[in-house]
This record gives sequence, structure tokens and C-alpha cells, in this order.
Amino acid sequence: MMEERRRYIGEEFKKLYGKRPTIWARAPGRVDLMGSHTDYNMGFVMTMTIDRDTWLAANPREDGRVTIHSCNASGGASFSLDDIQRDEEVPWTNYIRGIAAALKESGYCLLGFDGLVHSTIAFGSGLSSSAAIEMAAALIFTTISGLEIGLVDLALLGQKAENEFVGVRTGILDQYSSIMGQQGCAILLDCRQLTSEIVPMNPGMQVVICNTRAERNLVGTEYDERHEQCEAGVRFLQRFYPEITALRDVTPDMLKRHRRAMPVVIARRCQFIVEENQRVLDLYEILPEDHPGLLHDLFTASYRGARDLYEIGAPSMAAMFHAMSTAPGVIASRQAGAGFGGSMVALVKAGYLDQFTKHVTKSYQQETRIQPEVYSVESAPGAMILEWV
Ligand code: GLA
Repeated sequence: MMEERRRYIGEEFKKLYGKRPTIWARAPGRVDLMGSHTDYNMGFVMTMTIDRDTWLAANPREDGRVTIHSCNASGGASFSLDDIQRDEEVPWTNYIRGIAAALKESGYCLLGFDGLVHSTIAFGSGLSSSAAIEMAAALIFTTISGLEIGLVDLALLGQKAENEFVGVRTGILDQYSSIMGQQGCAILLDCRQLTSEIVPMNPGMQVVICNTRAERNLVGTEYDERHEQCEAGVRFLQRFYPEITALRDVTPDMLKRHRRAMPVVIARRCQFIVEENQRVLDLYEILPEDHPGLLHDLFTASYRGARDLYEIGAPSMAAMFHAMSTAPGVIASRQAGAGFGGSMVALVKAGYLDQFTKHVTKSYQQETRIQPEVYSVESAPGAMILEWV
């Protein structure tokens, strides 16, 4: 499989650039098992890198330019590292432009490259396809330019690219997961300390992605609005607790004491984050063991909170949640990523994948007339250079 993919990318590369690539990087997508929108609130996330990934094959250039194409999308782009502008026509190239801009702004001297992207992460499906491109590009830039930058710093540069160049105020979850994820486990990410801990998973269950494949238009603006509402919540609570700097510092008791005086929407947003953060810590306790009932309750509470308090649901997600929760073998289901459509995630008893998939596909399709994408994923190693000759 890997060889076949490599051969295919190598041949496409040769057609485009007349030579074989000399450097290969891969970076995986991620799925969050708990902790929606807790990252920019400095909280915790239970996240897992998945065996769907983005490869970037490249050849360094000496003239300070980057030319980039993708096997998954038509059109490519070429830009000078001395004048990095946003590209509205081929927007996926902004993730590579953004990384280059972030590295240059930090004072690094970069070599350019001819590159070709190949991804098995459906674009826009909420599994961090963009962070995967960013991390693969970051590894290529730093390797060919001879830079020594720590992995967490690369994740931060990716977040900066997303925040400042692409223009959405996302947290660190996607980039951190893509570059620091580990095979054979989930990781508990502490978004304030920027550290993580390995969390083994019960082998009796599988992680299954259920992509709603419904249009997701609101993600950017609504996402930033949620971020601002959380900040408004922090500012309100600081009047009583000057020591807090993020919702991570707020306990359920603190919120309970003051929520009546808060604007209703802000109070709801805060309640979700405070509870969701606690659910991550609760999941940490039970994930390695066999606790189907507790998993079910935690995941369901997360979904309901996301829908009713944080309001990041969508009709497609409601239909999918119904399909997942009534499927044979299901243990627990919830949203994933930013919400507003995209992919959802289920824990399914080992051996039930076929029955689960059939049921979810049929039920969801009946309700929405959209053909979903349902597949199991394994945890995968974080981003790496596969080869450099
Ligand atoms: C998107 C963002 C992440 C995170 C999730 C929600 O994936 O890029 O930073 O906020 O949404 O948890």
C-alpha cells in the first residue's frame, strides 16, 4: 500500500517537475475523543492521530521559490519566499504559504521547493487536513533549510499560520496532534502546558469516523464568535476571581455562583467548556478500561452540550448522532473537530464494524439523502520525514 502510494506520487511528481522527489514527509489527521473547543480555553483534549494522512514529496530549489501541486485538487501555485501573499484562487496553498510566512517572521532563512501533496484525509471533513499539510510542509522547510526547531514549536508555528495567515483563531489541538501524536494510544493534551500523556485504549473497541459530508459554511465566523464569547466569560469572571486567565481555571462551582448575572449566551458557552474540560479528565480515567456505560454517558453529555450550550450542532449532525446511537455494537458517539457538520466519532465494539456501518449509512441516508462516509481508524505516529536522499 505504502509502496504503491509512493510510486504513484513519484510518477506524478516526475510528470510535473521532470525529476523524482528527494524528500518525503507525512503528517496525520486527528480525531478528538473528548474536548471540543477546550484547546483555545487552555484546557485538556483527548486526541488521537489517525491513519489517514497527508504526504508531501519535494525537491529543494535554490531560487527562493515554492511551487506546489496536489494529487487531490486541480490547480497549483508558485510563490516567492520574499513576498508571501494569500492565494484566494487555490486556497489550500495558504497553509503552506502560512507556514513559510510564520517561519520567516521568526527570523529563519528558508530554501524553497517543488512539491506535490497527496492526502487521504478528506478536505474539510473536520479531521485536520489543513494542519497535516502545515506540519508536512514545516518538516520539509526545516529539513531542507537545515533548521533545528522543536516539534512543539513547529506546532505553534502552524497555529500562527492558521491564526494570522489563514485568519481563523484556532487553538493548538490540530497541529499538536498531527506532530506529537503516537501510535497505539490516544494522548491527553494539556493545551496550557503544551505537554501530553499517552493514554492506552481498550482493545475491545474501535474508533469509527462518521463523516456527515454535509456543507459546512459557518465554521470560520461562528468559530471565532465562540472564541470571543469564551473570552467575554473570562473577563466577566475575572471581576470575582482576578487570578483566572482562561476558562480552564474556572470550576463548576465558581460558574454556578455567578452564572445568573452573566449574559445568558455567555453563561451557556462557559458552562459547556467547563463541563467538557472535566469530561476529558473523566475520560482519561476510564478510556483504558472496559466501561461501556460510562463512555456512553460521557460522549452523550458532550454531544448534548455541544448542541444545546455551545450551539455548534447542525441538522446533519443530529441525523448522524441518531444513526450512530442506534447502530449495532455502538458504545458511544459524539461530534468531532469544530462541529457545524463535518465528521463525528463513535466507539464501536470490536467485530461490529460491518453491522455498524450498514446501519449508520442506511439510517443517515434515509434522513438526509446524503451518502455518509463511515470508516474505522487506527492511531498512527505523528508527522515525520519519511525519507531524504
Ligand atoms: C478546530 C480547531 C481546533 C479546535 C477544534 C475544536 O479543529 O482547529 O483548534 O478548536 O476545532 O475542538
